Amino acid sequence: MYSAEISSRALRFFENRGHTVVPSASLIADDPTLLLINAGMAPFKPYFLGDVPPPFERATSLQKCVRTVDIEEVGKTSRHGSFFQMFGNFSFGDYFKEKAIPYAWEFLTGSVTDGGLGLDAERLWATVYTDDDEAEQIWRNEIGVPAERIQRLGMAENFWSMGVPGPCGPCSEICYDRGPEFGRDGGPIANDERYLEIWNLVFMQNIRGEGPAKEGYPILGDLPSKNIDTGFGLERMAALLQDVPTIFDIDTTRKILDLAAELSGAKYGANTKTDVSLRVVADHILTSVMLIGDGVTPANDGRGYILRRILRRAVRMMRLLGSNDPVVHELVARTVEVMSPQYPELAGEQKRIDRIAVAEESAFAQTLKAGTSIFDLAAAEVRKSSSLILPGDKAFQLHDTYGFPIDLTLEMAAEAGLSVDEAGFRKLMEEQRARAKADAKARKMGAQGETGVYRELLALGATEFTGYEHLESEATVRGLLRDGERIRAASEGDIIEVVLDRTPLYAESGGQESDAGTLVADGTELEILDVQKVARKLWVHQARVVRGEVTEGQNVLAKVDPEWRIGARQAHSGTHIVHAALRQVLGPTALQSGSYNKPGYLRLDFSWTGGLSPETRSEIEEVSNLAVRRDLPVAVEYMTLPKAREMGALALFGETYDEEVRVVEIGGPWSVELCGGTHVAHSSQIGPLTVIGESSIGSGVRRVEAYVGIEAYRFLAKERALAVKVSEILQVPMPEIGDRVSGLIKQLRDAEKEIARFRAIHLKQLAGEFVKQASTINGVTVVAEHLSEPATSDELRTVAIGVRDRFGDRPAAVVVTALANDKPIVVSAVNEQGRERGLKAGDLVRAASKVLKGGGGGKPDIAQGGGTDPLATADALQEVRRVIGQTVSP
Ligand code: ALA
Repeated sequence: MYSAEISSRALRFFENRGHTVVPSASLIADDPTLLLINAGMAPFKPYFLGDVPPPFERATSLQKCVRTVDIEEVGKTSRHGSFFQMFGNFSFGDYFKEKAIPYAWEFLTGSVTDGGLGLDAERLWATVYTDDDEAEQIWRNEIGVPAERIQRLGMAENFWSMGVPGPCGPCSEICYDRGPEFGRDGGPIANDERYLEIWNLVFMQNIRGEGPAKEGYPILGDLPSKNIDTGFGLERMAALLQDVPTIFDIDTTRKILDLAAELSGAKYGANTKTDVSLRVVADHILTSVMLIGDGVTPANDGRGYILRRILRRAVRMMRLLGSNDPVVHELVARTVEVMSPQYPELAGEQKRIDRIAVAEESAFAQTLKAGTSIFDLAAAEVRKSSSLILPGDKAFQLHDTYGFPIDLTLEMAAEAGLSVDEAGFRKLMEEQRARAKADAKARKMGAQGETGVYRELLALGATEFTGYEHLESEATVRGLLRDGERIRAASEGDIIEVVLDRTPLYAESGGQESDAGTLVADGTELEILDVQKVARKLWVHQARVVRGEVTEGQNVLAKVDPEWRIGARQAHSGTHIVHAALRQVLGPTALQSGSYNKPGYLRLDFSWTGGLSPETRSEIEEVSNLAVRRDLPVAVEYMTLPKAREMGALALFGETYDEEVRVVEIGGPWSVELCGGTHVAHSSQIGPLTVIGESSIGSGVRRVEAYVGIEAYRFLAKERALAVKVSEILQVPMPEIGDRVSGLIKQLRDAEKEIARFRAIHLKQLAGEFVKQASTINGVTVVAEHLSEPATSDELRTVAIGVRDRFGDRPAAVVVTALANDKPIVVSAVNEQGRERGLKAGDLVRAASKVLKGGGGGKPDIAQGGGTDPLATADALQEVRRVIGQTVSP
């Protein structure tokens, strides 16, 4: 029976018995105590606790779950996977044990034609909690299970809880006897591999408190009602019904495993180690696909870290199994294919899942390349010092510089027979975190501290901001400051701070640059250089007195530069548009983490791993420009924060918002953000938008930059001018530039190859000349010559080896010098017979390099070096002959 059928049978069985079929919740738990959903009942926790009234009294679901606590066990046992689907039926204060037990029994043992699973009743055992006589009675008297197939187990096994504080209660498990080939008899208390737990019925009636996870925690009291929570792992049930040895061999997962075997060339069933690795790959890829499908993206903490770790572990296993090429794309496609019958939404998400998974694979490939050599070096060093512990600072360096998750370092160390100073590692991590925190704090305090002077001015009242409606406002100068001190007046040339009672000038905030503008009065003009808010209430204008004099108490006209403001509006609305486009193209996890915009330019930082392909970049640009063309209305509304949240307004984490928040919508629900910025009225007023760059600005954070409005036009015009120029130079029409340049590059490469070929022939001739000039020193054939033309060190190496190899098994030593970019270089090659006479290429190069005023070295058979004195080559070669004479005795 296929997995999909088992689940539909189970859901139908309980639906027919008054249960509401509830679709699986996202793996991303809506519960602060839980990173990922790890049990079928997790989405129902508030109903059990009585925090929220349940909308139904009976429910049934097949819930996606991820458990990674015992990730090391995956693949080693037959029944632990990091992703699994838990079927369950639930009663919220409706039926209790008296119905839950018979329901389960009927479904398991009922005939297949009647909608059951048709399991053999004789093979089923039941366990009950230590003192649960009631459950035992039901098993014996109602169901008729013989007393010897009912066993009692303690809290560790038969008491179940979720979260702290959380619901809990005694449970009763149903186990299936797989037969004597799976081990000794004696029931579930004796052997849990043979008597496989297939269904757990939890009689949820208490509240648990703080304490150990499974056993010995306090029971705080009773839940408002008596409930039922049951769960069976679909994969285990499928393994049983499909008569396969493990959950990795069932109809779905096995197809992923088979592809992993095919791609890596490993054979499933050949040996335990390979089998475990293949199972891990299948399990982890499946888990990754389901996690990404639900919106998790790789990151260095939280859920993102779980995903990163699992996906990278799968990729690494594939490498160890022998595959050196990228594998994720194909494995993802296979996984989506096998899981789609149960999760049809996966097919629509395939492109996004693939993009994220493949990007992570390639990021990891880079990491592995850089980090592995660092690791190998560190491991060799550790061994040399005859210690077996990789120091904490090495593990930290691998993490900090090369992005090695600590688990990877631990695994690689274990494979190399080493352990890791984990405590040292954690200490360094902690120190780094503390530094970052202190840093952030220092920055905050430095910026606009509420010093006494500002407090004084604040006491006179907050500045009224008029800039949403007006570009000009009559205002009174409340105070003037220079170098942090109050002043009464300032005159031409002074740079001062001006505090007004009201102002239309936007102060830098929410990523938007402050407005440009002026303050004017009779005979007086000040140019605004910067505007900042102090304590979120006081507008402080930094200004230069261009003309005249300004005094405290004076009336001025505060004016925003209208051209500037047009650009600022375009840029800020453009930022919202790009953010919405990013989320439309990449999915809801591409969340903005920071932004900056000023007239003509915007940039947006967002959480994402891996670069965006040129196609994705174009897609984002296209979606943005289509939104501009659709002329979406831009609406501003004020409301309470919870109301804004309800509308799905996006808010930057860590910002503080007032009771009343300002919500900016572009095109209704398409873009909804909390924002205090200035915006256009319709999206078409943004004008063209062109993405000019996309880059990484730290682990898991990317930055897009774009021009908007006239700047975008100018940028594109400049590019077009460049293209026109290139097309003129190349004398081809513009669309053919690419082909033409590729053609030219190819011609150039071919020509270079041709030159290299001639050069090789030429060098061979030179080598021939050198062979003729060989002399003999105490029975060793020696060539110590200078190449009369410039050469690269690779070429010189070719010559030296070429000459050496011409002497067959005669002892021979070759040392040749040449000039490379006017600097002397030297290469030595000594054959085996020469080495037997005590000559080492490294020694000869060192002797020569010393005379050349440089250095070098290498191995006994081949070595190279160089120096700084181009006139010393003859002396150097003379020295080499002397050293050879000295080394080889007659
Ligand atoms: N919530 C119970 C379990 O996960 C059924 O085992």
